[in-house]
Amino acid sequence: AQNKRLAGLHILVTAGPTHEPIDPVRYIANRSSGKQGFAIAAALARLGARVTLVAGPVTLPTPPAVDRIDVETAREMADAVDRALPADAAVMVAAVADWHVEPASQKIKKGDATRTLALAENPDILATLARSPYRPRLLIGFAAETERVLEHATAKRIRKAADWIVANDVSGDVMGSATNTVHVVTAAGVESWERLPKDDVAARLADRIADALERTP
Ligand code: C5P
Repeated sequence: AQNKRLAGLHILVTAGPTHEPIDPVRYIANRSSGKQGFAIAAALARLGARVTLVAGPVTLPTPPAVDRIDVETAREMADAVDRALPADAAVMVAAVADWHVEPASQKIKKGDATRTLALAENPDILATLARSPYRPRLLIGFAAETERVLEHATAKRIRKAADWIVANDVSGDVMGSATNTVHVVTAAGVESWERLPKDDVAARLADRIADALERTP
């Protein structure tokens, strides 16, 4: 039998992109396969945690013993996260769209006029949770960066009031790939992991989460 180090704990995971509709057939989104977030949810459940996985639109099977809530937009994701609280830890892996538009009720037709989309900012789910009375005692964000990865991730950890930021360099072929190279940024500094299968990144991160929750009960 496996070591159920996270038994009795509730952990929230967000994963995948969000889709922000423009009209009935079009949307705004960030690139995200959801693989890393789903792998993390699976690894946490293997350690015995009760896992709530709030998933944007992806085509992935639900990992064993994980409670999955499917959402489409960032605002739906924010509501689902709210409803799933309280949690002992949260791992926000989702690539949330930064903006939404007021969607047209009918398909927008092509024309010769240039069309402008009025972008409104989405809520920052991680930053909001970090400052809420329901803040989990371990709050982990992700940062997909294409340059100056550690500098941006370090700044993001402070700005969003997260405990850890897992930074990945997405200038290569990470999107949809089975492997990932990450740097874990904490108050203690930066730990850079070798390129690993996403399942191994997930297993190692789940172990670190269990270590951290054991240290600060
Ligand atoms: O600012 P940026 O989008 O790079 O931050 C990434 C981190 O913040 C990820 O953990 C992501 O899940 C989270 N995030 C969020 N809500 C947003 C934007 C990002 O929770 N609207």
